[in-house]
Amino acid sequence: DWTPGNVIAEQVEAIREVVGQDRVICALSGGVDSSVAAALVQKAIGDQLTCVFVDHGLLRAGEAEQVEQDFVAATGVNLKVVDASETFLAALQGVTDPEAKRKIIGREFIRTFEQAAREVVAEADAEGTTVGGAVKFLVQGTLYPDVVESGGGEGAANIKSHHNVGGLPEDLHFELIEPLRTLFKDEVRAVGLELGVPEGIVWRQPFPGPGLGIRIIGEVTRERLEVLRAADAIAREELTKAGLDRDIWQCPVVLLADVRSVGVQGDGRTYGHPVVLRPVSSEDAMTADWSRLPYDVLATISNRITNAVPEVNRVVLDVTSKPPGTIEWE
Ligand code: XMP
Repeated sequence: DWTPGNVIAEQVEAIREVVGQDRVICALSGGVDSSVAAALVQKAIGDQLTCVFVDHGLLRAGEAEQVEQDFVAATGVNLKVVDASETFLAALQGVTDPEAKRKIIGREFIRTFEQAAREVVAEADAEGTTVGGAVKFLVQGTLYPDVVESGGGEGAANIKSHHNVGGLPEDLHFELIEPLRTLFKDEVRAVGLELGVPEGIVWRQPFPGPGLGIRIIGEVTRERLEVLRAADAIAREELTKAGLDRDIWQCPVVLLADVRSVGVQGDGRTYGHPVVLRPVSSEDAMTADWSRLPYDVLATISNRITNAVPEVNRVVLDVTSKPPGTIEWE
């Protein structure tokens, strides 16, 4: 029978058997997948696990705190935080091509994580807590749809280069632990709840590894990130207030940073940027439909964003299903 309890029991046993006394490392992204994967491994092997959280500067408002405070409090994991936002922004300077952005963010992520992993290994060596050598295992919150979309499934095309699958540094010799590899999102949430992961994390909408970097259409800069972060926070707040979090799969907010249009805000004419609301409903992200959000919720989001974020003078709604449109714009 499929129950969250059975999945946990099975995985805990399998993880213990594979890991033995070795140390394990996990890249925590702030999303539900890596959080649940980490909590599952933590349950199996406790302090043999160290989580690494790379803050790439492309996160939404409040996300770093949610990992550093809430998740740690709930699970007791060892957490190493790396603030790498300067490095990521420098690497992204002048880059506008979506796949180039994804590759750069993926590459910088691997580099940063690799460095952190070496530090974790060195610390473990210094403490004498490595048994059988070093950190040998890497946890990843890879889900079934990720496997399929990245070409790991039978006959599936590589649609976008999802950076949380593959691309690992070879000389670190990690073996992968992917305890969620056969699960869909709703199953992962059920497992997370059963494990006691805070509801705020379990019910958090999916967020891509490359973060806001692929929600700014155009070059990614610190200023543009701040604009998008502010607009996104308002949209999320209003959707939560309206009780819609569990009805919609996710609602990317996209900044069309190279598009300008004329508006009137405050005392005069503005020449600002549009943001796109992309609310979708979906079972597994492989297909999606645009969510018919209530007009009054859309109106409130639009009014609040254009009042509070001076750089944004227009809010538009994406009414495209997937296919043909992907959920993200890049
Ligand atoms: P698309 O845009 O391909 O997105 O329809 C499908 C789902 O995947 C998320 N997404 C990603 N998740 N790393 C991730 O972990 C990525 O590089 C990535 N790209 C897209 C997206 O938010 C949606 O839920």
